[in-house]
Amino acid sequence: MGKITYIDEVEIKNKTILLRVDFNVSLNPDHTIANDERIKQSLPTINYLIKNNNRLILISHLGRPKGYDENFSLKIVVNQLKKYLPQISISLAKNLEEVKEKKEKIIVLENIRFFPEEKKYSTLFAEKLSRLAEVYVNDAFAVCHRSDTSVIGPPQFLSSYGGLLLKKEIIMLDKVLKNPLKPVVAIIGGAKISTKIGLLEKLSQIVDYLIIGGAMANTFLSSQGYNIGQSLCEYELIEIARRFLAKKITKKPYVVLPKDVVIAETKESKETEVVKIINDIPQNKSIFDLGPETLAEIGKIIAQAKTIIWNGPVGYFENPVFKNGTDFIYYSITQNNQAISIVGGGDTLAAISKKEYLNKITYISTGGGAMLEYIEKGTLPGIEALKK
Ligand code: 3PG
Repeated sequence: MGKITYIDEVEIKNKTILLRVDFNVSLNPDHTIANDERIKQSLPTINYLIKNNNRLILISHLGRPKGYDENFSLKIVVNQLKKYLPQISISLAKNLEEVKEKKEKIIVLENIRFFPEEKKYSTLFAEKLSRLAEVYVNDAFAVCHRSDTSVIGPPQFLSSYGGLLLKKEIIMLDKVLKNPLKPVVAIIGGAKISTKIGLLEKLSQIVDYLIIGGAMANTFLSSQGYNIGQSLCEYELIEIARRFLAKKITKKPYVVLPKDVVIAETKESKETEVVKIINDIPQNKSIFDLGPETLAEIGKIIAQAKTIIWNGPVGYFENPVFKNGTDFIYYSITQNNQAISIVGGGDTLAAISKKEYLNKITYISTGGGAMLEYIEKGTLPGIEALKK
């Protein structure tokens, strides 16, 4: 089993460095930047490498474009980066040829997902990228769960290191996973259990309380025979959900499913109603948030936790009338100042109001899917590629 060498453990000076970052910032509907946290979190590594007189070629994706798409150009990211690094010359290069021609201290290659070889792994493309530089650094924790060419390819050709953000993410997650202070509480929301069942199994070995919210909870409720009306549900996974819960009845963790919920006719509705799960949900209505009785139970569990892991909104937060559950969970976490709390995922962050309390959370991971997969598997393809 090899290990990663981080950039602050070796001397990297006067080199041209291929630096994989994750500038996949959340965007507003008009394609301006909604939250630039991922850019900010990349600055320590950029500054560290620049201070040591290196030149940087930055690689990132933005969104999920299928080929070239002006809406996903890294232009907006480069403009933002320039604001944070006003002393440094920075330029955007459309392709690999332009990268070679440009002389700026930092060159940002256009959205790597404009190149088809990024998602469709290509050794040849990895080699071409590698020829642009002398060293490869991966600081893009949030995309390390993808076996994309720029994430796992260059270490075959270049001396490769982990960046400071990657290091911070791994240290924080390991702290929570390897020897967590108990009781450990995980709150997992989001739409689907199909992508998260492995994670739930893994979390079950670590946590004392597993709180399930979001549309994902509907599949579990349905597996217990409750009528959930029109609610979003993965009916093909009912049996898996039922088996998962059956195992937990006798064993830890204690699983919290909604006891009451907020229902409405559609996700755009302004008219809502609170009902208990045992009273059948009307056939024309759907569940969109957790109800007050459930939140009160969750509040008590979070208040006595020593370690908290949270990923995913627990309601349809896009409509403010269904935001209460997610805001309550956020509020409860920020009120517990004895616990180590880890929150991950752009969705989770986008969902919460009152961002001024964010500093009460011990660690906010830049990774969503990456954080969850790291918890589940203990490593990621991008991390493995760096190990020597
Ligand atoms: C993320 O936002 O989770 C990462 O940037 C990975 O993006 P992807 O889910 O589009 O691969």
